[in-house]
Amino acid sequence: MVSVVCQKPDGEGGHVALADARASDTNRHGNALLISILNKKGKENLEQMGRRRWKNILGITLLALIAILGLGITFTIGWRPLIGAKKRALTDRKFEATPQRLARGKYLVDGVLGCFGCHTDADWSKPGAPPREGREGSGHVWADQDMPWLIASNITPDKETGAGNWSDDTLARAIREGIGHDGRALFPIMPYPNYQQMADEDLASVIAYVRSVPAVRNQSPTTRMPFPLNFFMQAMPQPVIAAVAAPDQSTPVARGSYLVRMGACANCHTPQEKGQPLPGMDFAGGFIVKEPNGKDVASSNITPAASGIGYYNDATIRQCPGISMAG
Ligand code: HEC
Ligand code: HEC
Repeated sequence: MVSVVCQKPDGEGGHVALADARASDTNRHGNALLISILNKKGKENLEQMGRRRWKNILGITLLALIAILGLGITFTIGWRPLIGAKKRALTDRKFEATPQRLARGKYLVDGVLGCFGCHTDADWSKPGAPPREGREGSGHVWADQDMPWLIASNITPDKETGAGNWSDDTLARAIREGIGHDGRALFPIMPYPNYQQMADEDLASVIAYVRSVPAVRNQSPTTRMPFPLNFFMQAMPQPVIAAVAAPDQSTPVARGSYLVRMGACANCHTPQEKGQPLPGMDFAGGFIVKEPNGKDVASSNITPAASGIGYYNDATIRQCPGISMAG
């Protein structure tokens, strides 16, 4: 185009031609530009639409994931690990220490419930490793069972290092409902899931008796549950708001069933895998209790099977560790 203009002699037309040419050139450029802009717009539109579609897909996927996660949490671990343990407000109820309650409390605490067996350093030099004399209830660090982060608190009436300043209901809530004096969800080695069904009158007896033992000054650290246990534990505590009636005492089996639950016999006598009792193996033994001398001991099979205690007579059974505690 420009070369044609240059061949004209006068140059005038050339100018015109040049102008025309320029104009049409501009037009063409313009068209091209327009097309390219349009194309670009179209592309952008397409891209935008595409992006929007992706955004929609992403949004829906995200919503679906949240819904699945929500349902997953609801039907698996539940929301408690995230929102904290269920707990009720404390009341100012008091349990009067009557002689009957103190006697029943002593039987339960020193006997079948074995509170001080867990809440005191053991005297391994004596058979059955009883709580150290004169230290009953003063607290125990569970390093000997490979859980150095777990501390069974000092529950003697010492005001500074023990339970001396905790109210009766603080103790009641800890024992049956799994909430510590500081509002924490307790680790369920403290058998509160079992104690949940402890009769109100037995709870009163236990508390009256625990409050009557000598105060022992012993400052122990606080439990620090490792992750993710600290989260999962939040699902364990359950408030007890209704009255719990005295257990059925009408037959030896009914009476025993209550004592076996309170004694948490299954916690040691049912074998576990990853902290869960093996189904169908109730009381079949094999749970390992560590001893400091390195001679770990397995709990016995106490079912009536041939490898259990089916052939023991009553007198033999009475001498067994768990039973002699129950008296
Ligand atoms: C099998 C062992 C075991 C037995 C039996 C046991 N406890 Fe505990 N208890 C624990 C452990 C361990 C803790 C600490 C849990 C934690 O810190 O998460 C605890 C915590 C407690 C607390 C809460 C302390 C706090 O700091 O607020 C109280 C109160 C308590 N136990 C009282 C009792 C009484 C009373 C009994 C008997 C009826 C009893 N326990 C039986 C192991 C036991
Ligand atoms: C802290 C864990 C623990 C708890 C709680 C516990 N036991 Fe045991 N029990 C053991 C261990 C360990 C042995 C084995 C002791 C040994 O061989 O020296 C044992 C032994 C026995 C035996 C002797 C069996 C035999 O082979 O001679 C009987 C019976 C028994 N327990 C019944 C009970 C009953 C009933 C309860 C509940 C009231 C109970 N135990 C609670 C850990 C426990």
